[in-house]
Amino acid sequence: MRHVIDNRVPAHPVPVIRIRRLTKSYGHGDATVHALRGPDDPETGGPAGVGLDIEQGDYVAVMGSSGSGKSTLMNILGCLDVPTSGRYLLDGIDVGHLDEQQLSLVRNRKIGFVFQSFNLIPRTTALAQVELPLAYAGVRTAERRRRAMAALSLVGLAERAGHKPNELSGGQQQRVAVARALVTAPALLLADEPTGNLDSRSTEEVLALIDGLNATGRTVVLITHEDEVARHAKRVLRLVDGQIVDDVRQAPVDGPPPFLYEAEVRA
Ligand SMILES: Nc1ncnc2c1ncn2[C@@H]1O[C@H](COP(=O)(O)OP(=O)(O)OP(=O)(O)O)[C@@H](O)[C@H]1O
Ligand SMILES: [Mg+2]
Repeated sequence: MRHVIDNRVPAHPVPVIRIRRLTKSYGHGDATVHALRGPDDPETGGPAGVGLDIEQGDYVAVMGSSGSGKSTLMNILGCLDVPTSGRYLLDGIDVGHLDEQQLSLVRNRKIGFVFQSFNLIPRTTALAQVELPLAYAGVRTAERRRRAMAALSLVGLAERAGHKPNELSGGQQQRVAVARALVTAPALLLADEPTGNLDSRSTEEVLALIDGLNATGRTVVLITHEDEVARHAKRVLRLVDGQIVDDVRQAPVDGPPPFLYEAEVRA
């Protein structure tokens, strides 16, 4: 008997993120909030759920008014929360089949998080903050220190390694958070309003960092309220009442993000 081995490279590699018929609701009965619902299912009349594919290397901004479901979506993408129904495949793995321990491994290995409120640990040096995900991953002390310093250098804060959050500006604190998110070299960076608490100069600094991470191959999903921030992305999704109503491509997936490109053209 002959075995035919199909080793052709697929025309479309597996998307980093694939969600199908995803819903998330809170509460019960009349008080149910459908935070993610998608369009109505023509057969049942109920929520049909959200569908979305995000390819490797894409840079996606998620916009929408307060309460439209942005953070709910982000928390599910980051395996911080589980959907009410539907499927989520991360790098081809159905996360619905993973237990809590496997999920925390996925979070640690594959995903970097940046939040609006920085989420740094008080009274802890920048270096120790950035080392922490490596400690969870079991990296030895010397290697941990080396990699954390490299990440802090990348965000321009090598000289502040010994500073605690209350000794840093908001922009610097967020750059520490970005260093912490990238120190494990995750394939996916999730940022929930990373510039929401920053002035315009710090916003530009943090966005330049995120642009650079995308340019070197990381997939980025970023929530924002601001058009200025969304202009940095290659693709913009708009949520209204738990539904994706708009999906606009601003730049190709396999090129540089728009602002880096403009900078290159100007140079
Ligand atoms: N833990 C929860 N319990 C009950 N309802 C919730 C919970 N979390 C979110 N919701 C509701 O789900 C909906 C979507 O919330 P979500 O936090 O995703 O909005 P958002 O788009 O991130 O808003 P914002 O721009 O204000 O951050 C809202 O109506 C919110 O009140
Ligand atoms: Mg939110």
